[in-house]
Amino acid sequence: MVLNIIKYPNQILRKKCEKIKEINEEIKKFVQEMVETMETSNGVGLAASQVGILKRIIVIKFENNSKVFINPEILKKSKEKEIMEEGCLSFPNLFLKIKRPKEIEIRALNLSGQEIKIKLEGLIARIFQHEIDHLNGILFINHLSWWQKLKLKKKLKKNAGLV
Ligand code: CO
Repeated sequence: MVLNIIKYPNQILRKKCEKIKEINEEIKKFVQEMVETMETSNGVGLAASQVGILKRIIVIKFENNSKVFINPEILKKSKEKEIMEEGCLSFPNLFLKIKRPKEIEIRALNLSGQEIKIKLEGLIARIFQHEIDHLNGILFINHLSWWQKLKLKKKLKKNAGLV
């Protein structure tokens, strides 16, 4: 079943998600629905809060497969940052240049409950950071500089026919 993706400014997107204590059948079924939803939307990542479930689960297109990461955490971030364009399924048609650490190390559980640790860089490191942010109620617009925010506000007003 494809789930409905919650769009900004719905306040659910601002909520903090809770850790998964047990990976039961209900969770496994939900993960399958998240994967279907991400694939149908042609997304590269989806966080549970984006479909209204406040649990720490993300699904990501990883090496051409859809993979799930439960209770993901960032262990290390590089000092070096880079700017890349990002989109978000909760913000249709909005693409923004966002600065983030270039390399990260993450820890998560797979669907069998085994702990995995991975070092990531470039685009995939970015996707993980974006999705883990969602679990903490943080959206990509929160990473904009003040002048980028100003430009975005003008653009949104223009699109709404206000200026
Ligand atoms: Co997003």
